[in-house]
Parts: sequence; structure tokens; C-alpha cells
Amino acid sequence: MEKRPEISAEYFDEWYADMARPHNETAPHDGIAPHDEITQRHLGLPASLLSTSLLSWDGIADVVEALRLPAGGTLLDLACGRGGYGLEIAARTGARLIGVDYSAEAIRQATANPKASGTSARFEVGDLAATGLPSASVDGIVCVDAIGFATDQAAAYAELRRVLVSGGRVVLTCWEPLDRGDPRLSDGMRAVDTQQGLLDAGFIDVEVRDRPAWRASERGMWEEAAHLDPGEDPALQSFHDEAVHMLDRFDLVRRVMATGTAP
Ligand SMILES: C[S@@+](CC[C@H](N)C(=O)[O-])C[C@H]1O[C@@H](n2cnc3c(N)ncnc32)[C@H](O)[C@@H]1O
Repeated sequence: MEKRPEISAEYFDEWYADMARPHNETAPHDGIAPHDEITQRHLGLPASLLSTSLLSWDGIADVVEALRLPAGGTLLDLACGRGGYGLEIAARTGARLIGVDYSAEAIRQATANPKASGTSARFEVGDLAATGLPSASVDGIVCVDAIGFATDQAAAYAELRRVLVSGGRVVLTCWEPLDRGDPRLSDGMRAVDTQQGLLDAGFIDVEVRDRPAWRASERGMWEEAAHLDPGEDPALQSFHDEAVHMLDRFDLVRRVMATGTAP
């Protein structure tokens, strides 16, 4: 079975702190580390977006459409990381943004994100299963590539339902196992079941759709990373190693966008 590193808020604090350290030796030209340049090019993302996942630029448009945010509505970006996707969606829709993540370091960086300045966006430390927000206080929720991290999946789906107003929409992007019994996948991956999670939490209009175009850009990225020569660059080496690992399991999972409406 695939082994997962110990995942915690502290783990992500360190992950984000490391990301913020200058990579001078590996980014000689324009300040962008080579692995970031490869990721951004395949996903079509501008460097300023500060993503830490694999939702593409085209994917953001799919998410915006699925959210159906009302004018002047409030959007929760749950497990927001450095806030890149939430800020982009808020800019496109005019929504007020609240970003929540359990990594205090991610929240610190999201608050300092230049794209947040001059906006009404706010970022707070909170958990997927306990955001700290009042009940029925947001009109839409986006959770990009993070729902699988919740240790109690049912509690996380219940929290999505609790904070949404009636009629509010939730949009989750993630990967799901093709076969929940596949021992080559981690326990965490095998536990992801957005359809069941949303239905059990009481959502209606639940749809879980495959996103083959997102999958294609992701595959292109991993293939380029798997074939590059990392040289002496440790970040590129770990990107290369991750790519080999991900391609090995690529056909065991599907890329999905799950949506639901709060009744
Ligand atoms: C792959 S990153 C994605 C971040 C952001 N959504 C993006 O796409 O750029 C996963 C995020 O989930 C957050 N996370 C993981 N478990 C969490 C939990 N139980 N509660 C809140 N945030 C969590 C991590 O701190 C991290 O920021």
C-alpha cells in the first residue's frame, strides 16, 4: 500500500514556509523556480496566482460556472492555502472572499498575497471540519484539491452543509479512486467519495463529473517532470521523483469536480 507522510497543520506550515524561501540558485532568470515554471505552463496559470495544487486556468472557469454565486455573495475558499484560487474567483465574480486553512503559515502568506490587497478578502485559521464560521453564512464554497485531507470525511461534509445558506453551492475538485479496494492507493485516497459525502450531508443536485481536460494537462506536466534531468537541484529532483510516483498510479484514479446545492 502507498505510504503517506504524516499530514498535519505543522507539516503544511513547514511546506508553506519552505515555499516562501528564496530559490535563488534554482531560479537564475526570472525568480521562478524551474518546477514552478513547468507546473504553471501546463496548467496555464499565471505565476501570480499562488496555487499549491493542480487546478488549471480552464478549470477555474468550470468552477466559477458551477458555483453560480449571487451578485455580492460571500465565497468560502476552504483549505485555501495561499489564497490564489479564491482570490481569482472573487475577482471574476465580485464575491466577498473568506479563506480558511488549518496552516497558520498558509494564512499568513494568503493575507500577505498582493492580490488580496485592496480587496475585502479575509483569511482565517480553521479546519475542514470546523471552520469557525457561523451557520448559513456563505453563498458558495470552493475546496480545491483538499477534501481528501480531512481525517473525518463525514464531519467535513457536514461542515460544508452547515455554513452554506439554503440554495448555496459547493464545488469540490479532487481525485477519486477507480477502485476503492485497490491496495496500491493510500487509505486517504481510497476514502474519498464526494458523491456519498455530499448526499450523506444532505446536499441535493449532487453531481460528480470527470474532468478529462484537467487530467490531460496534469499528465503532460508529470510526463515532462519525469523525463527531465534534475541535475543538482533538490526541488527539481523531488518534483521528478513525485512525477515518477504519480505516473505510476495515474490510471488508478479519476479527476473529478463534485457539486451540490444546500437544500
Ligand atoms: C494541496 S493544498 C491546496 C491549497 C489550495 N486549495 C490551492 O489549491 O492552492 C492542500 C491544503 O489543504 C490544507 N488542509 C489540509 N488539511 C486541512 C484541514 N483538516 N483543515 C483545513 N485545511 C487543511 C493544507 O494546509 C493545504 O493548504
